[in-house]
Amino acid sequence: MKKRKLKKSPKILLIILIIIIIISVIKIKPDRKQEEIKEPTNIQKLEKIPYYKKEYKTRYLKYQKENPELSIENIVTYVNIGLDNPYYTNTKPSTNLNNNLILVNKYNYLTEDYIPENLEEIDITYARSGMKLVSEAKQAFETLSQEAKKDGMNIIAMSSYRSYTYQLNLYNKYVEADGKEAADTYSARAGYSEHQTGLAVDVYNKTLPYTSFEETEEFTWMQENAYKYGFILRFPKDKVNITGYQYEAWHYRYVGKETAKYIHDHNITLEEYCAKKVEN
Ligand code: DAL
Ligand code: ZN
Repeated sequence: MKKRKLKKSPKILLIILIIIIIISVIKIKPDRKQEEIKEPTNIQKLEKIPYYKKEYKTRYLKYQKENPELSIENIVTYVNIGLDNPYYTNTKPSTNLNNNLILVNKYNYLTEDYIPENLEEIDITYARSGMKLVSEAKQAFETLSQEAKKDGMNIIAMSSYRSYTYQLNLYNKYVEADGKEAADTYSARAGYSEHQTGLAVDVYNKTLPYTSFEETEEFTWMQENAYKYGFILRFPKDKVNITGYQYEAWHYRYVGKETAKYIHDHNITLEEYCAKKVEN
C-alpha cells in the first residue's frame, strides 16, 4: 500500500501543475485582449488633446499623414493655426477686435476700414514723432522705455500703428524692389499686418538702424525685460515656419503682462498661444 501511494503522488502533482498552467493561460489571455482594447486609437489620441476641434478631424488626419514626424500635440496645434493650408489661403476676418489678444497673421485679416479704438501718440521722448499705439500699449511702452533708460538703454519706437492704406503702399514698394515672393517673407500684405491693430511696435536704439537691433545691448535688455511690460518678440528666429515671417529682432507686440509672461516662459508664439486656448 505504502509503495503504491508513493508512486501515485508525482502523477497527481503533475496533473495539478497542468491544471494550474491551463488556468493561468486562460486568465492571461483575456487580460492581453483587454490591453489591446485599452490602447487608444490614433483618433482617440487626437481627441484627447484639450484644444482638439471636431470640425477639423479630416484636416488633422491628412496633416498627420503628411507629417508623420510631428507629435499629436503639434498636429492639433498647427492645424488649429491653419498651417495645413498655404499662407494667405483659407483666410478669415480676425476676431477679438480691440482686444489685446487679437490675432492678425497670414490667415487672419483686418478689413480696410478697421481703425483701433483709443489710439494715442507716443511721447517723443520714446518715439519718432507721430507714432501711435492703442492707449494701454502706449502707456506700457512708455514705461518700458523709461525703465530701460534707467539702465542706460535707448529703446525708441520707429514704427507703430499703420493704417491699411499705409501698409498697402509699404508692401507694394517692397514688391517693386524685391519681388512678391521675397516681400512676403518680411512684409505683411495690406490687412494682414498687426501694425494695423495699434498693438505692434518696431524699435531701434537711435544709433544703429532697426535692422541691426539684434546686435545691440538694447536687444538683450528687451529679451530679458519686454514681457514684464506686456510685450513679446513677435517673429522669433526659431519660429519662422509658424509665424510665416523671417526673424525680426525689432518687432514687439503688446498682449498684456499675463499673456506675455506665459508666452515668454513657454517659448511659444502668439499663434501657438491662440491655437492652444480652449474655446468655450
Ligand atoms: N514686418 C511685419 C511682418 C509687417 O509688415 O507687419
Ligand atoms: Zn513691425
